[in-house]
Amino acid sequence: MSNSYPRKKLLFCVTKMREEERRIYDYLLQAGIEVDVCTDSMQLELENIRRYDVALIRCLSQSKALERAQYIELAGVKTLNSYEAIKICTNKAFQAIIFKQNQIAQPDFAIAFTFEKLYEYLERFDGRFVIKPVSSSWGRGVTLINSKFALDAWISARESLDPQGKALPVLVQEYVDKGNYDIRVVIVDRQPIVAFKRVSNDNWLTNTHLGAEIDVIKVSQPIQEISKQLIDAIGEGIYGLDLFYDHTRNIYMVCEVNQNPEFAKSWLIHKVDVAKAIAESCLNVQPEWIHVKSSV
Ligand SMILES: Nc1ncnc2c1ncn2[C@@H]1O[C@H](COP(=O)(O)OP(=O)(O)O)[C@@H](O)[C@H]1O
Ligand SMILES: [Mg+2]
Repeated sequence: MSNSYPRKKLLFCVTKMREEERRIYDYLLQAGIEVDVCTDSMQLELENIRRYDVALIRCLSQSKALERAQYIELAGVKTLNSYEAIKICTNKAFQAIIFKQNQIAQPDFAIAFTFEKLYEYLERFDGRFVIKPVSSSWGRGVTLINSKFALDAWISARESLDPQGKALPVLVQEYVDKGNYDIRVVIVDRQPIVAFKRVSNDNWLTNTHLGAEIDVIKVSQPIQEISKQLIDAIGEGIYGLDLFYDHTRNIYMVCEVNQNPEFAKSWLIHKVDVAKAIAESCLNVQPEWIHVKSSV
């Protein structure tokens, strides 16, 4: 990796140094960057924060990632990803609204703020839909409802644990005819750097975390186009974009976008060095003081 860049200082916010973070860290050091690591349990020193050119956020907890990015940006240092991007990526309902406003293809959706409303949506979606907690990952809580009885059971279980409906709203999506796979696209800056199918023959949830196999594919023209639409809508950054190829409509559509893509296992198969691309993205950040307006 070239070290002809002006010397930079970077704050690396992590939960722990997993293999992924370690590899990013090593590349940064190789490039001559000074890196301070701040784990979730450590004090975030804001007083001197402007000595950093950029903060790279790789916290595992969505709320911690949001918190770190918000404080650091408020104090005037650019974060990767930006607070705004993390905010969007950690809420599937926000995403659905933004995709709609930007004419990005996605499953038909609704946002349910009450349990009762779900019965209405079951009719609207012809008796079958997917319910998703707005903030979750690794397939957790993503549930296929295919009858009134199934919805009764889901609501009953939820109400007993969450009588006040604090975990509402939830996102409701039509069930997409995606075959036995979805597609993960890793984006760094504005570039979709790799795409692979996540194939599962025994689980309709195709997260690799749940055992899906990786099948590397070309970053084809339609994948480039939908990635560009996404970046134009939410800004450049480091993303794991989940796509469906809808076999009924014969189009690509966005399932969701993640802000902290994991790559420890997948890169060994597709061989695209995501850690290096992320480190290079940090090198290319232009130091700029951010004047936060009303988005707090
Ligand atoms: N509307 C849908 N139709 C069909 N399959 C879906 C739908 N939404 C999600 N899935 C499957 O569930 C998986 C997890 O859903 P996703 O929205 O990506 O949540 P998570 O953040 O938990 O990964 C997806 O990778 C996909 O395999
Ligand atoms: Mg996903």
